[in-house]
Amino acid sequence: MAIEKVAVIGCGLMGSGIAEVCAKAGVQTIVREINDDAVKAGEGRINKSLDRAVSKGKLDEAGKAEVLSKLSFTTQLLDLADVDLVIEVIIEDTGIKTKLFGELDGICKDSTIFVSNTSNISITELGASTKRADKFAGMHFFNPVPVMKLVEVIRGVLTSDESINSLVEFGSKLGKAPIVAKDTCGFVVNVLLVPYLFDAIRLVENGVASIKDIDTGMKLGCGYPMGPLELLDFVGIDTTYHISVNMFEEFKSDRYAAPPLLKKMHLAGLHGRKTGKGFYDYTDPKSPVPMKLS
Ligand code: 3HC
Repeated sequence: MAIEKVAVIGCGLMGSGIAEVCAKAGVQTIVREINDDAVKAGEGRINKSLDRAVSKGKLDEAGKAEVLSKLSFTTQLLDLADVDLVIEVIIEDTGIKTKLFGELDGICKDSTIFVSNTSNISITELGASTKRADKFAGMHFFNPVPVMKLVEVIRGVLTSDESINSLVEFGSKLGKAPIVAKDTCGFVVNVLLVPYLFDAIRLVENGVASIKDIDTGMKLGCGYPMGPLELLDFVGIDTTYHISVNMFEEFKSDRYAAPPLLKKMHLAGLHGRKTGKGFYDYTDPKSPVPMKLS
């Protein structure tokens, strides 16, 4: 089925990026947030990102206007009745997500495909809250969404081939490279990424090298755009901690056990860039200074 109209539910950091790439691909995109203030904040994020593209010469004013003409905003779920695809990008809470999908099931047309951008909640469990498990899948985007080329398309146990094919085609239309994975906690990327990030934290805990040297090691030694501790601050210490709790619960493997320092930083509110402090202090965002952590 061709996907011509989409709803993006949640317009935070990831949702605004997803809405932007949908609109840029010429897809009619309706964004739903819970209240007018959240709508305004989401709209502001998208505008800022488009202005950045204009200032870099990647988009002209006419192109920006064209993108904006594809976007509309609402606080009402009822406005999403006729979309071909719903992309859910709300808080990582199974109960809140299943309640939302249950409501949408009664509102959207029968052919609408539902996807969640969750990074680690079971797609099969979310799909079971609807009567359309065959049209339910995961679509996991990466931060920053306008830049990162990957999208993981996740197949729940009951997801149909037809739905997966439509989503792969849609991911390509967005300019992304889709990869398909089974519904396993962390899918492909986080199963590999999380143990790597945790090993970097263990190096800090064991005093093997300084924060800066660990990051420099991976950037210059392996050509990564960010070192692991920079990346942890970028993704969010709180987000990574919550992912690890779910992954450890699923696999019961030390690979996914949160290092004590990650938990302490989470509890201390050192959540990375979003709070101004994590492994680095971002008081001057242009030159972050490594934190003294004990
Ligand atoms: N929105 C739009 N564009 C952005 C952007 C944003 N938030 N941030 C950066 N860009 C663009 C810039 O405009 C620039 O484009 P150009 O080269 O065409 O001019 C390009 O990206 C590079 O940006 P900068 O020069 O400002 O900065 P960097 O060269 O340091 O790159 C970065 C920034 C793209 C974020 C790069 O450091 C990077 O790729 N980091 C790794 C990010 C990563 O690994 N993300 C995945 C996280 S894991 C995840 O999301 C899954 C979850 O489940 C945990």
